[in-house]
Amino acid sequence: MKMRITLVLISLVLSILIGVSLSNRNGESNGKQAGKQRPLIGLSMDTNKEVRWITDRDIFIGRCKELGANVLVQSANSDDARQIQDVQALISRKVDALVIIPHNGAAMAKAVKMAHEAGIPVLAYDRLITDCNLDLYITFDNVRVGELQAKYLVEHLPQPGKGKIVRIYGAKTDNNAFLLKEGQDKILRPYLERGDITVIHEDWADNWNPEIAKKITNAAITRHGTNFDGILVSNDGTAGGAIQALKEEGVAGRVLVTGQDADLVACQRIAAGNQSMTIYKPIRNLATRAAELAVKLAAGKPIIARNAVNNKQIDVPTILLEVVTVTRDNLVKTVIADGFHSYDDVYRNIPEKERSPRP
Ligand code: BGC
Repeated sequence: MKMRITLVLISLVLSILIGVSLSNRNGESNGKQAGKQRPLIGLSMDTNKEVRWITDRDIFIGRCKELGANVLVQSANSDDARQIQDVQALISRKVDALVIIPHNGAAMAKAVKMAHEAGIPVLAYDRLITDCNLDLYITFDNVRVGELQAKYLVEHLPQPGKGKIVRIYGAKTDNNAFLLKEGQDKILRPYLERGDITVIHEDWADNWNPEIAKKITNAAITRHGTNFDGILVSNDGTAGGAIQALKEEGVAGRVLVTGQDADLVACQRIAAGNQSMTIYKPIRNLATRAAELAVKLAAGKPIIARNAVNNKQIDVPTILLEVVTVTRDNLVKTVIADGFHSYDDVYRNIPEKERSPRP
């Protein structure tokens, strides 16, 4: 199904937003769906080895079911060739819409092309698919995540705005890793230019692998000792690897470490003081909205997106969701109040008298 994308300018009280309306070429519903009882959605995942993505998957499936749709799920184990095969399999099962969480945003352009040839619209979930005619994209504001991580680090250095840091970026195959870096760079730039903050070591963690993050931290320590103030880490999984290396040197808790995802183990580390912050991205919003969009796409119904993100080929209609900084001080008011994690789980390893009051 080729989608007609109409850019409509909608002016709101203070700002002008780009409204993107997607509709089927002839304004008809998806032909394949006619006569079918329930729409069929295909979900192609990079991995189901990280807690984060299991949460996404389960909420997504639950909401699709509530909306009367069935979901077929494939997970590629971080392998591009396998993810292409997964998409092929979903296409041959005649899904009405495809939702892809790409391992490699560039490699999945081929999957989008194949889906379009079969008349199936594609929604990129959380991670952008570049160099293709992608129909729709839903994500958190990743540049903002990077800004919040760097801002926290800068403000909480022993001497605020001054110090030595290590930087651990995400997977080079993931466009988000670059957006996070972009946000971080924006905040750090003036401090780096003045020489107030120095990056003593930096590297990319392939596949967002915690083991690689640990090795990067070990390498920083081997070269420079433990005389640095913080590690600007892009997500909680890799923060876990970095913290493990710091623990082995006896400096966990002293060296600031950032993260993202509000994984339970990261929230427990924050409660214990080993990780300084994380970014809570309300996955329920993302997965729920994505399910609603996928079901609409499957039915060829119009969709309004207020943002657009360039994927090197087109401006992809995009839905951007807000994020929240989580620290030891607001664990209760954020992830716990939202029911993302329970109070008992977050404070499981903390003696009663050292816990924040139960809500
Ligand atoms: C996501 C993060 C996640 C990372 C590793 C990124 O694309 O935005 O939430 O931690 O991938 O899976």
